[in-house]
Amino acid sequence: MPGSALDVTRAFRASIGQFATGVTIVTASGPRGHAGMTTNAVSSLSLDPILLIACFDNTSRTLPVVRESGRFAVNVLRAGDEDLAAVFASKRVPEEKFEAVTHSVEHGVPVLDDALAWFVCDVHELLPGGDHTIAVGRVTAFDHDPAGEPLLWFRGGYAHIDPNDLARE
Ligand SMILES: Cc1cc2nc3c(=O)[nH]c(=O)nc-3n(C[C@H](O)[C@H](O)[C@H](O)COP(=O)(O)O)c2cc1C
Repeated sequence: MPGSALDVTRAFRASIGQFATGVTIVTASGPRGHAGMTTNAVSSLSLDPILLIACFDNTSRTLPVVRESGRFAVNVLRAGDEDLAAVFASKRVPEEKFEAVTHSVEHGVPVLDDALAWFVCDVHELLPGGDHTIAVGRVTAFDHDPAGEPLLWFRGGYAHIDPNDLARE
């Protein structure tokens, strides 16, 4: 039974870690250049209009760039992109982060060349969520590679799907 606040945080992490997610790099661009961070708190939200959410720690350096520019992109990572995810999860300067990847600028935001899928969004709303900020993005452009394999985050580590072992009814 968790006791201290730290124990509760650990216990929550362990329980929420059972919820497998994909891994993305959320990017934005402002007058001082690009910004980007590894993000797994991403979800689709609405089809009409097409909305998704991405959740930013209030201390992340990418959040103010999203706030100022009013735009961001969600780049879905592939199996094998663990090193790239580590770079964008670090506090390296953004210039160094973007040296690790080739990208183009689509609709004013960086889109990674090898993304499994990407979504360019206009900020629809920024909502407070405890120590995070929930960015509701209105999707204005998107594409995907139907054949690729995703990078997953599960139980606090990276995981892969075996495409021959998908549990399809
Ligand atoms: C797999 C993984 C998922 C992450 N998901 C999130 C997330 O959803 N939101 C968040 O704010 N930080 C998340 N992080 C942490 C950020 O990537 C990290 O704080 C990063 O240094 C922020 O970069 P920035 O300060 O340049 O914006 C995640 C890290 C990893 C490794």
